[in-house]
Amino acid sequence: MKNPIRLGLIGCGGIVQITHARAYHALTDTVQVTAIADVVPENLKKIGALFNVPTESRYTDYRDMLEHAALDVVTIATPHSLHAEQVIEAANAGVAVISEKPMATTLEEADRILESVRRNGVPYTVVHNYIFTAGMQAALTELDVLGESHFGRSVGMGLKPTDFSADHPTPAFAWRASKAKGGGCIIDTSYHEIYAVCTLMRSPVRYVEARVQTLRLDIDVDDIAMLLCEHENGAVTTVSGAWCVPGTDSGWCEMHAENGSIRVQHRHNMANALRRFTRIDGWKELELAGFDEAEQQDASGHVRYFTETFKAIAADTALPVPAEKAYYNLAIIEAARKATIERRAIEIPVL
Ligand SMILES: NC(=O)c1ccc[n+]([C@@H]2O[C@H](COP(=O)([O-])OP(=O)(O)OC[C@H]3O[C@@H](n4cnc5c(N)ncnc54)[C@H](O)[C@@H]3O)[C@@H](O)[C@H]2O)c1
Repeated sequence: MKNPIRLGLIGCGGIVQITHARAYHALTDTVQVTAIADVVPENLKKIGALFNVPTESRYTDYRDMLEHAALDVVTIATPHSLHAEQVIEAANAGVAVISEKPMATTLEEADRILESVRRNGVPYTVVHNYIFTAGMQAALTELDVLGESHFGRSVGMGLKPTDFSADHPTPAFAWRASKAKGGGCIIDTSYHEIYAVCTLMRSPVRYVEARVQTLRLDIDVDDIAMLLCEHENGAVTTVSGAWCVPGTDSGWCEMHAENGSIRVQHRHNMANALRRFTRIDGWKELELAGFDEAEQQDASGHVRYFTETFKAIAADTALPVPAEKAYYNLAIIEAARKATIERRAIEIPVL
């Protein structure tokens, strides 16, 4: 692997401009944004200027970038329906792939991705950034003491605009509200709540009951996702996601266990990010010891996720989020959709 790693970006929209860019700036010793691709020239211009990417290395067709640019890794941050095709093309070009969530829109697509990255022998990982927030990283160190989990809860509510038209000033809303683009509340928003709470529970989900429906918004994808999951150890977890409910107390997950409970707040600044309950102390806010201010400002966890991922790619060691974790998350989502249609619990096979 070259040092610095030569990075190509597929998709230069909202998350790249706001969050990924912060991570790449923090990693200039490790990573160089070498080439970029986006179908919107304005986004190419913005990211190109931010990272001094020469105009000849800015592409409107990502396939041209894969063919002509010398790259070690690509990141993919495009609408969900494009992930499978773009990951497979990148793997066929022999580069490592870091894909934004979700891995794909269906398990059938995910199977094709796994076949391709294995056949080509390229590292492949999906961004599960909420595992890397300061609050979550500290919570993980508490789990052994808290013991066996019995109940989990995760909530991610919000009120999306009612104007989802393609010419909305923020086009990211338009594709998220479109079935053809792989949108919907469960795969976009609740995606994070599912992997976050499951990480705290430490026992795989075996059965899923759910209501994944369009209740309020005039869109052809779900605007509400309510899951009831049964874990292998008998524990139960609920996940509540909505695009049609104001998020007054939202973006957190909890795990309740034999010796106490833990609650992690996502998305917000890091004050109050982590609380622990024990019968002796009651609920207490925990210090995020060992995290400097910059890390505590990394509210989405992206900087830490990218730091650990690029380190693993450079050293050819195990990736912090292996593909199997993303596959498993998608399996829960697919089961929840099926559970809604069939009005019954769906079994998740041992993967
Ligand atoms: N992990 C997180 O916390 C988080 C947060 C936000 C978004 N995301 C993920 O990031 C991805 C992008 O989301 P976003 O909010 O940036 O959306 P966005 O609409 O702002 O950006 C998507 C970009 O992809 C570009 N694009 C569309 N088709 C393309 C193609 N064929 N080739 C190259 N580029 C193409 C668009 O022009 C746009 O610039 C999604 O997968 C989303 O789920 C993750």
